[in-house]
Amino acid sequence: MSLLADARVLMALARGTGRTGSHADRLERFYGPQAADYDRFRERLLQGRHELIDRLPVAEGARVVELGAGTGRNLEFFGERLARFGHVYAIDLCGPLIRLASDRMGGRANVTCVLADATRWQPAAPVDAVYFAYALTMIPNWRVAVDNALRMLRPGGVLGVVDFFVARHHSLLTRVVWPRWFAHDGVHLSAEQVPYLRARLDVISQLEGRAVMPYLAGASVPYYTVIGRKRP
Ligand SMILES: C[S@@+](CC[C@H](N)C(=O)[O-])C[C@H]1O[C@@H](n2cnc3c(N)ncnc32)[C@H](O)[C@@H]1O
Repeated sequence: MSLLADARVLMALARGTGRTGSHADRLERFYGPQAADYDRFRERLLQGRHELIDRLPVAEGARVVELGAGTGRNLEFFGERLARFGHVYAIDLCGPLIRLASDRMGGRANVTCVLADATRWQPAAPVDAVYFAYALTMIPNWRVAVDNALRMLRPGGVLGVVDFFVARHHSLLTRVVWPRWFAHDGVHLSAEQVPYLRARLDVISQLEGRAVMPYLAGASVPYYTVIGRKRP
């Protein structure tokens, strides 16, 4: 039942990630109890994922990586394109979520789901596209994750990111409230991600939107999308 499922997710959000254990331990503790309900609840919250994937310029035969892939939900947004990629790697550090991704993609010979750290994992050969969907804000050393993504891309390859953020053009209320609100759940909104990406990519597109928060009376949180090419 959906209200019960929402209640389970809201309980996990209220408990937060805690402060003890490794980053992987915290992810497991946070997502384990809500893993089965993750997709339905996040469908409303994590806006712009489908649009990011629609806009990623990746051709047939491409090698594609999602870093921080969670349950693998985003791979479904590729639709029929997915079967025509050379290979897709879904990487996540949280066991309960990446196991769901593996089950979801089971049987697809061109998809591999890997339990690994996005700041360190590397494919055997350079890839054509890498993307992060709402993962950078959950990776404490997100700059290292971006640098790692750039390292695995071929020159001219595509990096796409969608995530929550705050910036100077947002109201003081937005800049003060949302970073504190999300930090409890290990999500760290930053004003620095967009400039960091723009400094390293030839930007193809950049968008901004606001996602309405479930159960919060129409309150909305800003998110951005950046797609760009690795410089030669
Ligand atoms: C908000 S979820 C987004 C999941 C998925 N991309 C989506 O759009 O549904 C953030 C994800 O980042 C993963 N994550 C956090 N730190 C990570 C790291 N260092 N390496 C790999 N994945 C990480 C979490 O386990 C979680 O699955």
